[in-house]
Amino acid sequence: SLQATREDKFSFGLWTVGWQARDAFGDATRPALDPVEAVHKLAEIGAYGITFHDDDLVPFGSDAATRDGIVAGFKKALDETGLIVPMVTTNLFTHPVFKDGGFTSNDRSVRRYAIRKVLRQMDLGAELGAKTLVLWGGREGAEYDSAKDVGAALDRYREALNLLAQYSEDKGYGLRFAIEPKPNEPRGDILLPTAGHAIAFVQELERSELFGINPETGHEQMSNLNFTQGIAQALWHKKLFHIDLNGQHGPKFDQDLVFGHGDLLNAFSLVDLLENGPDGAPAYDGPRHFDYKPSRTEDFDGVWESAKDNIRMYLLLKERAAAFRADPEVQAALAESKVAELRTPTLNPGEGYQELLNDKSAFEDYDADAVGAKGFGFVKLNQLAIDHLLRAR
Ligand code: GCO
Ligand code: MN
Ligand code: MN
Ligand code: MN
Repeated sequence: SLQATREDKFSFGLWTVGWQARDAFGDATRPALDPVEAVHKLAEIGAYGITFHDDDLVPFGSDAATRDGIVAGFKKALDETGLIVPMVTTNLFTHPVFKDGGFTSNDRSVRRYAIRKVLRQMDLGAELGAKTLVLWGGREGAEYDSAKDVGAALDRYREALNLLAQYSEDKGYGLRFAIEPKPNEPRGDILLPTAGHAIAFVQELERSELFGINPETGHEQMSNLNFTQGIAQALWHKKLFHIDLNGQHGPKFDQDLVFGHGDLLNAFSLVDLLENGPDGAPAYDGPRHFDYKPSRTEDFDGVWESAKDNIRMYLLLKERAAAFRADPEVQAALAESKVAELRTPTLNPGEGYQELLNDKSAFEDYDADAVGAKGFGFVKLNQLAIDHLLRAR
């Protein structure tokens, strides 16, 4: 069905539908959106969750009374709608103080301030029941190689994250942390630019089991990488803690389009992976979080239409993926392509190199030319996928 339910776990950032469409060349084209209205509208379109940066909800520099009033109003809206806050994140990129980063600014006082700002958002997130803290280090980076000691920056990144994990554990918050990679923008080069870099980095943390990643479709595609394959590897490492779904047309500025409005084929294989895994069971059960920006050309009607389009795209692709899997011709093509054979270990149980060396059929008697002459039929399989995507089958 194309009707979203809470079980679909669709969530949106407050900064997405609330984006006023200010860009590097132009002013805002939309007025500010009241967070309370955002909660009600998102509940109406079938979302189960809303996420936010500290400053999306409470404007930077608000006094305590203002903050309490805003948080109370937001909580009331959550109660009225049943919407939850599965994840929160911290803005360490807008204010000029963060122009050289937060956790990795060359200025030590900025680093201390950044950690304090995140601890404060962890308190609020825990109060609202959030399970995940996303860390998008958009300003953690450089434009000039000689201006940043990358090794020292990674030391400071690790120092900060170790402290956050300790705070969460000591306070009993039980948060999990998800690093969001991005190659560039707003910095010329951002630290932890891809899913692979981020997965390698989290292995170096004290409580590494609490740390995973939050990959975004467009961010991997900005590096010309295959998002579905990146997600498959993150799943393999058990590090897919959260996901940002959107659309992007290859290596260019971060477009944050509606999910599926960029590389549609890759969006299809992604939904197929998340929903059907390699073998029919869902591979991921966390929030399907849309991190898109309603295009600057749209008014508020267009904002809510495009928000709905994210959900529609996901559910359409889920339907198409189910039809693809259920088609006997697809099953036959999968078998012909030996897709499942890859799951069989290369060695027999108990076999080592000596047994392999003794197996003449593996080498001495192996007809490499005959096997090399046979096709795999991968293109046929891909065409079947496209036929299903286009509802031509
Ligand atoms: C981007 C990023 C951000 C982050 C968000 C979470 O498009 O560059 O996705 O939107 O996801 O700020 O901290
Ligand atoms: Mn983005
Ligand atoms: Mn994102
Ligand atoms: Mn974004």
